[in-house]
Amino acid sequence: MAFFTQICRSFSTSCARNVVIKHVTIIGGGQMGAGIAQVAASTGHMVTLVDTSEDILKKSVKGIEGSLRRVVKKKFADKPEAGEEFIQNILKNVATSSDAKAAVQSTDLVLEAIVENLKIKQDLFSALDKIAPEHTLFASNTSSLPITDIASSTTRLDRFGGLHFFNPVPMMKLIEVIGTSSTSQETFDSLFNFSKALGKTPVSCKDTPGFIVNRLLVPYMMEAIRLHERGHGSKEDIDIAMKLGAGYPMGPFELLDYVGLDTSKFIIDGWSAMNPGNPLFEQSELLNKLVAEGKFGKKTGEGFYNQI
Ligand SMILES: NC(=O)c1ccc[n+]([C@@H]2O[C@H](COP(=O)([O-])OP(=O)(O)OC[C@H]3O[C@@H](n4cnc5c(N)ncnc54)[C@H](O)[C@@H]3O)[C@@H](O)[C@H]2O)c1
Repeated sequence: MAFFTQICRSFSTSCARNVVIKHVTIIGGGQMGAGIAQVAASTGHMVTLVDTSEDILKKSVKGIEGSLRRVVKKKFADKPEAGEEFIQNILKNVATSSDAKAAVQSTDLVLEAIVENLKIKQDLFSALDKIAPEHTLFASNTSSLPITDIASSTTRLDRFGGLHFFNPVPMMKLIEVIGTSSTSQETFDSLFNFSKALGKTPVSCKDTPGFIVNRLLVPYMMEAIRLHERGHGSKEDIDIAMKLGAGYPMGPFELLDYVGLDTSKFIIDGWSAMNPGNPLFEQSELLNKLVAEGKFGKKTGEGFYNQI
């Protein structure tokens, strides 16, 4: 084993092996990170949830507890004591830390769900790469940044992939598992099996903008805005049309408000910069105007619709 570790240190691009992920360190305790922590802890994984301050972490754990209480209300309606035990058994699988470097010293997977900024993600992974054990896999939950670019800040290109979850994580069954051209088959399989162990349905994706779901969904939402901008339909009619005609649970404008107009603009701006001239990634004046006015959708109370 010592020999293996020694070899790994010298040739760190060829040491991938199948890792059964039992302990996961989730960096970022926001909307996504807290949801992932809840699901991982509920499926018997040991979790360390990391964020920048103890205050944020307290809120994250409170959010997880609140979400579990909603589950218990339905599942253990007549058995409050069993419900409480269920919650405590899950919460005891979740530790928290505001020190990322200390948290990754003994872990099988570092899963990042921090702010959507390439430089910040690269700085984080570069620092953790020097500390995490050789066998530890790294994964990002980015929605729009190339996994290859994030991984380039580390020396473990073969042990780096993407795990793209959907919001709200406890409800949404899909995980997109992304392999770059350097991700080893062992790493990919480990991430795929971990996704199954979370009770989710994984699909295999290449490292291309938006993977599968957002690559189809974002251009669709942008075209809905452009359709409206061209005067070809009111936002209400477009939403009704897609719900009743295509069977979608939300219309594109309702979905944009739910996702966040700032997030949607951020994604489309990044893709249009990476693929200039691609009409699918063209920006929208109306979207830019709403974002400039601070109308981000559900999170600010107003977007395409007034949410109050
Ligand atoms: N919100 C979604 O619908 C969604 C869906 C899939 C993927 N994503 C991706 O997941 C990631 C997180 O999104 P979110 O919606 O949870 O964001 P969020 O703003 O709710 O949470 C981000 C958290 O990361 C923390 N953070 C920032 N920098 C940090 C650092 N250096 N170290 C530790 N913690 C740090 C912040 O304090 C915050 O609590 C993004 O990359 C986003 O693209 C989001």
